[in-house]
Amino acid sequence: MNKARIPVIAGNWKMNKTPFETKSFINELIPLVTSSKREIILCVPYTYIAKAKELTALSNIKIGAQNCYFEKSGAFTGEISAFMLKEMGVEYVILGHSERRNIFSETNFVVNKKIMAAVKENLKVIFCVGETLKERKENITFEVILNQLKNGLNNLKKEDLDKIIIAYEPVWAIGTGQTASVNEAEEICSFIRKTIGEFYDINTANKMIILYGGSMNLSNSKELLSMPNIDGGLIGGASLDAKKFAEIINCTI
Ligand code: PGA
Repeated sequence: MNKARIPVIAGNWKMNKTPFETKSFINELIPLVTSSKREIILCVPYTYIAKAKELTALSNIKIGAQNCYFEKSGAFTGEISAFMLKEMGVEYVILGHSERRNIFSETNFVVNKKIMAAVKENLKVIFCVGETLKERKENITFEVILNQLKNGLNNLKKEDLDKIIIAYEPVWAIGTGQTASVNEAEEICSFIRKTIGEFYDINTANKMIILYGGSMNLSNSKELLSMPNIDGGLIGGASLDAKKFAEIINCTI
């Protein structure tokens, strides 16, 4: 891993856990990861943000959300704005996750609006891109990723790029137990870095944190994290168990 970039391990709880489980998970995780030099992020459901912030206040764990709406306030029943997240002390937000794109029909255009709103509120964005199995089979993976990057980052200024983390999450690997091979993951992460270099410049591309996500667990994390263009992981299933998550955070490469 490039030592100039601080590795990031982000957990994505999705729609899981109860308030009680949230408390016991965080209390179990904190002592296990105190000496970690990695950036540790826990993206919890909206309803647990306040409690998670309180429980992690004196720790090295940062709290993130899993989505936000692009308008600041108003008649948008059921939505939560980037502004509201910021006011709650949230530092990160996952945007463009494939479950949002596929289940909730979020387009690249909407993802871009959300990214712009989050950046405006000074939130750091974990911007997800990735191809479906069908797209991979049709050999259009690079095209799909390029399109997601181009549209997702549309109008984003170079100085805002330090608020963006890109997560490459092949849709076919999410929650399936099927991980991309290290070479497949590295190939796309390196393509993402090259593309950022073309959109902006090499320096910006070299500073960009690029994560891999999709069935990442203790047995494959070492190898994935040791690849030159993979700076960390966005972890779903394996982030639901504090011990397993801590083992990934603490794994040496
Ligand atoms: P997974 O989820 O680790 O369970 O595959 C990753 C994600 O969706 O962010």
